[in-house]
Amino acid sequence: MAFSSVATFYHSVLLVVLVFAASALAAQNPLLRIANSEFGPNPSNVPFYLYLPKVLAPNPPILVNPHWCHGTAQAAFTGTQLANLADTYGYIMIFPNSPNTADQCWDISSPETLTHEAGGDSLGIVSMVRYVLRKYNADPTRVFAMGTSSGAMMTNVLLGAYPDVFAAGSGWAGVAFGCYADPKGGAGTWSDACATGKIQKTGAEWKNVVQAAYPEYTGWRPKMHVLHGTVDQILDYQNLAEEVKEWTAVLGVENVTATVRTNDIRPGWTTRSWSDGGRGEVFRATSAAGVTHDIQTDANTVLEWFDLKCQGTGCFSRPRL
Ligand SMILES: *[C@@H]1O[C@H](CO)[C@@H](O)[C@H](O)[C@H]1NC(C)=O
Repeated sequence: MAFSSVATFYHSVLLVVLVFAASALAAQNPLLRIANSEFGPNPSNVPFYLYLPKVLAPNPPILVNPHWCHGTAQAAFTGTQLANLADTYGYIMIFPNSPNTADQCWDISSPETLTHEAGGDSLGIVSMVRYVLRKYNADPTRVFAMGTSSGAMMTNVLLGAYPDVFAAGSGWAGVAFGCYADPKGGAGTWSDACATGKIQKTGAEWKNVVQAAYPEYTGWRPKMHVLHGTVDQILDYQNLAEEVKEWTAVLGVENVTATVRTNDIRPGWTTRSWSDGGRGEVFRATSAAGVTHDIQTDANTVLEWFDLKCQGTGCFSRPRL
C-alpha cells in the first residue's frame, strides 16, 4: 500500500470507530425536565431529569443515577452507556441534578438527608422515584441506584435511608452511609475526616448509624456493590473497608467468609462477595488495584448486578411491601 492509501485506510478506520462510538453513546430520546410542581415533596429543590427509553419494558424497572461533584444530570446522561442501554432493555432512568450550585455535590451530611422521609436531597430523589412508579406503572420491586464519587455517596445515603424503596445499589468510589454525618451539615459540607479515611467504626457501630436513619424498619434490606481504587487521592481507600463493615453488618453477613474473584471487571481488580444462606449474594466489594478516584465505571457490571437485562418474570427484585 502506498503511503497515501495507508493514511486513507487508517483515516476511514478512525472514522468508523468515531461513528461507532457516537452511535454507541447516543441515547435515542432527549432528557426530559420534570417541573417541580409535578412531583414532591422536594424540600431542597432538586431539579428532576427523566430518561424514557424508546420502548418501555412492561412494568419497567427504574435506575436512579446521581452525578458526581461538579457534574450535572446532563453530564451523567451522556457520560455512561446506561441511558442508551435503557433503549435496549426498557428501564427508566432518573437523573437528579444537585441544587448546590457552588460545587454540585450532593447533601450527604445533614440529619434530614440521612433520615427516612425527613427531607434533604434524598427525599427529593425518592419523590422522583415515587412519581415514576405512579405515572409509568413502574415496578416498585425493581428500583436501583448507581453513582460515582458524590453519586456513590448519595447511593449509600439512598439505600440507608430508604431501604423500603430500593432493591440494590452500586457505588463507585463513595463512602459509607453516615460517614459525612454532621448535625449542622447540608449542601457544601465537606468532611476531611471521612475523605481521608479517619472515620472508622466497627460493623456494629455502622449498623447502628444505618438503623438510626429509619429505626422502625426491620424489613428486607437492598443488596449493595461497592467499588474503590486502591490509590484514590480524594476519598481514601480506607472508605471501602468502612463500607464493607457497614453493609455486611446491616445485611447480617459480617461473619460469612467471602468468596474472592481476581481480575474481576478489569485486570487487577479483585471482588469479594458475601452470600446470605437464604437470599444468595447480598454484598460485593471490588478493590481496583492502582486506580485513583477517577474510577472507570462499567455499565455491564451495573446491569448484571441489578439484573436489568431481564424482562418479565424471574428477574432479581425485592419483596413487595
Ligand atoms: C457475628 O459474630 C459476632 C461475634 O461472635 C456476634 O456477636 C454476632 O451476633 C454475629 N453476627 C451474626 C449475624 O451472626
